[in-house]
Amino acid sequence: MSIKASTGAPFARILSVGSATPSRVIDNEYLCQFIDSSDEWITQRTGIKERRWIGEGENIETLSLTAATSAIERSGIPADQIDAVIVATISHYHQTPALAPKLAYLLGLGDAAAYDISAACAGFCYGLAQAESLVRTGQARHVLVIAGETISEITDLTDRGTAFLFGDGAGAVVVGPSQTNGIGPVVWGSDGAQASSIWQTRDWHGAVEAGEFPKLGMDGQAVFKWATSYIARAARRCLEVAGITPDELDVFIPHQANNRITDTLLRYLKLPENVVVARTITHLGNNSAATIPMAMDALLTSGEAKSGQTALIIGFGAGLVYAGQVITLP
Ligand SMILES: CC(C)(COP(=O)(O)OP(=O)(O)OC[C@H]1O[C@@H](n2cnc3c(N)ncnc32)[C@H](O)[C@@H]1OP(=O)(O)O)[C@@H](O)C(=O)NCCC(=O)NCCS
Repeated sequence: MSIKASTGAPFARILSVGSATPSRVIDNEYLCQFIDSSDEWITQRTGIKERRWIGEGENIETLSLTAATSAIERSGIPADQIDAVIVATISHYHQTPALAPKLAYLLGLGDAAAYDISAACAGFCYGLAQAESLVRTGQARHVLVIAGETISEITDLTDRGTAFLFGDGAGAVVVGPSQTNGIGPVVWGSDGAQASSIWQTRDWHGAVEAGEFPKLGMDGQAVFKWATSYIARAARRCLEVAGITPDELDVFIPHQANNRITDTLLRYLKLPENVVVARTITHLGNNSAATIPMAMDALLTSGEAKSGQTALIIGFGAGLVYAGQVITLP
């Protein structure tokens, strides 16, 4: 007796991307009501001018559904051929049930496998790595990866170290089979020794006692140092394992945590001047897991990046965790 193994497509690629930005525009001046800061300081130290937060009738579910619906429509793939849904989030209110099964149901995806992953700002790249493997091993014909975040709901408006950093939003991609490779090997990992660099102000027990929802806290300098050293090396490895030289790269979409981090990564990687670099942080802030697909959609929609171009994506955040890969843009 032998147990059959599944066989899948020779390669996988991203077929489409969609995104959703919420309606409320929050500029730096607004936040300076709550923290001792200034538009000038925030702009100079991070690059952020404004971010979008959820307003009336918007929540993580509505944003995720909008992004996913757009990605599915653009892919042209019928709902019954999407076999798995992976949702990357750290701001879904429920530890259980996961958000993915509900979204799969609301999107009419039948009995697609559906689960959430918690890998903070690296969540999209973690999900993409899983989707690529599922398609190539034949465990799923197509996979919908959704990254949805409403970080405004876990932001302490009075915390001078984080209040100005985050925005809400969602992004989604459909991953499917391909005759040529569109998703390079993932470079991913974790550095749990630094778990205390980004934290939740209290666990659920503490939240019950305090009668207050937990918020995000962060040692900004520690994360900054880690990102500009560890992540710079990981980004270079993404290119190496994909067999791509900096000259062959068209687009760079790093996690939008701080423009100064992006500048350091650019210097380290020695990317040519003509590489298009995502800077959505300026008007969207840091959207945690949703950052990379939102930036990808924004660059493609504006025409700054083109379908078929080669892009390096890399996310990093609470854990600390990171993941990145070289991809062909949908
Ligand atoms: C958060 C962050 C913007 C802070 O910038 P920074 O340059 O490290 O700021 P520092 O904490 O060193 O403080 C520098 C000075 O600015 C002041 N400062 C700190 N926060 C301030 C604020 N919100 N407004 C005005 N001044 C501020 C400090 O008091 C300090 O003043 P001093 O020099 O007179 O002592 C930066 O550390 C960062 O972006 N870190 C990474 C964040 C990140 O990647 N997160 C990932 C999450 S996924």
